[in-house]
Amino acid sequence: MSKLYQHIDANTQAARWDQRYGADQDSWVFGRRPSCMAQQAASLWEELWPGERPEVLDLGCGEGRDSVWFASRGWRVTAVDISTVGLQKASRLAMEQDVTITALIHSDILQFEPNPVYNLVFAGSSLHGLGDACILYLRKLQEVAAIGSLHAIRLMSTAAEGPEDTGNMYRVEPGELLDLYEGWRILDTSENRVCILRTGRYHSFSELIAQKV
Ligand SMILES: C[S@@+](CC[C@H](N)C(=O)[O-])C[C@H]1O[C@@H](n2cnc3c(N)ncnc32)[C@H](O)[C@@H]1O
Repeated sequence: MSKLYQHIDANTQAARWDQRYGADQDSWVFGRRPSCMAQQAASLWEELWPGERPEVLDLGCGEGRDSVWFASRGWRVTAVDISTVGLQKASRLAMEQDVTITALIHSDILQFEPNPVYNLVFAGSSLHGLGDACILYLRKLQEVAAIGSLHAIRLMSTAAEGPEDTGNMYRVEPGELLDLYEGWRILDTSENRVCILRTGRYHSFSELIAQKV
């Protein structure tokens, strides 16, 4: 069955996330600790490339929990987000933890040109916000990726009901993300479901860490 989605306009996204991140300046919506996928991606990188430091691209970095953690390992990190408030909090978190994020970029992801210099591309629950353009952008990231580089991607899936207002979010079918990485070496993949305590609704996600071969 074909799905009908549209691109969510960047200003709407920015306003939505600014409001959410700005509601409490002293609390981090997704916490200040790194996500499980960031920790898993880092440990896989270190297994594959012992002693090498990746050039990380964190797309939709939000309030910076993962960017800061990558940077705390001495890795160069470029962090991109549409939310000014998110970026300000990311910058504050970096300062508090005495680490440097190489570049904090305020941009619509779609305006950010993928570049093969990034050999650990990380997108935690952000690309589905691109609506229709999600898969096209993912394809672009894959095309420019250098051989050996890693992608760590988490997208909302259709397995659970999801947020009340999915807007024009692009939710993948379970298994779709894995199919999109056909030809890559799959290092880790999962389909999972979480209960959002704030709303009492289940959200589901497809996650994947893969290496370009
Ligand atoms: C669910 S949050 C995840 C934040 C972060 N990756 C984390 O796990 O803590 C999604 C993030 O994607 C950002 N985002 C959504 N659409 C975007 C776009 N078109 N360009 C840049 N950032 C976007 C939002 O501002 C938000 O910070």
